Amino acid sequence: MAKKVLEVKNLVKSFNGFVAIDDISFSLEEGEILGFLGPNGAGKSTTIYCILGLIEPDEGEIHIFGKDFKNHRSEIMTQVNYASAEFHLPWNLNLWENLYVYANLYEVPDAKKRITELLQIFEMTNWRNVAIRDLSTGIRARASLCKALLNKPKLLLLDEPMASMDPDVVDKGINLLKQIQKEENITILYTSHNMWEIEEIANNVIFINHGKIMARGTPLELTQNVLDVEAGEANLRDVFIHLSRTK
Ligand SMILES: Nc1ncnc2c1ncn2[C@@H]1O[C@H](COP(=O)(O)OP(=O)(O)O)[C@@H](O)[C@H]1O
Ligand SMILES: [Mg+2]
Repeated sequence: MAKKVLEVKNLVKSFNGFVAIDDISFSLEEGEILGFLGPNGAGKSTTIYCILGLIEPDEGEIHIFGKDFKNHRSEIMTQVNYASAEFHLPWNLNLWENLYVYANLYEVPDAKKRITELLQIFEMTNWRNVAIRDLSTGIRARASLCKALLNKPKLLLLDEPMASMDPDVVDKGINLLKQIQKEENITILYTSHNMWEIEEIANNVIFINHGKIMARGTPLELTQNVLDVEAGEANLRDVFIHLSRTK
């Protein structure tokens, strides 16, 4: 049986009486890419922040690598990482310096070798001496992914890593990410409100809205079950529209 890398059980989180996460449970098996899809405000980031330990849930349990997150946090976090389009690397440092600083923070053994390798995989070696502020948004997104991969994480949490980027930039980023995911057998939780992006990358999808899981399955299963059709191809766009309008 495949190993469970992440297990979230009955997670609940309210902000001043407003229920942002309403009893969410799901799990990820080793090597799986789970797409966490839902409209703005659905509760995607709040779920990720709970998994990162940045927000304390009101109820529920989180197990990572089979261990209770509350009691094994520091040990677990050495093998977890996170990226988001909203996360900004220090602007004045160049790409190499940024990655070097983070590699030291994460105590990456042989940091220079790992940075060189990641810059090659993400086709960014030519930008190594350029300040972050002078990089295009697409290259910056790839820089954030490199940062998130420095410690060879077993679990990677990506919160809208390509938000507001052009489709060709997203396509490139996703293809590079898929390559390293396969090579290093990384388990990924990938949130987006862009169904096309999720169709490209996810093996399985959970659709959330108003803090609740509305549907789950492979992109094709979700399409067939939610739209109640014998579809031959995934159509998460129609699934999204249907579920976003369901109260
Ligand atoms: N710190 C907070 N205080 C109050 N409300 C919050 C806070 N964080 C998130 N929320 C609310 O919780 C809901 C879910 O937010 P979020 O998880 O950021 O959604 P998503 O990432 O799916 O767009 C939203 O209605 C948001 O306004
Ligand atoms: Mg969010």
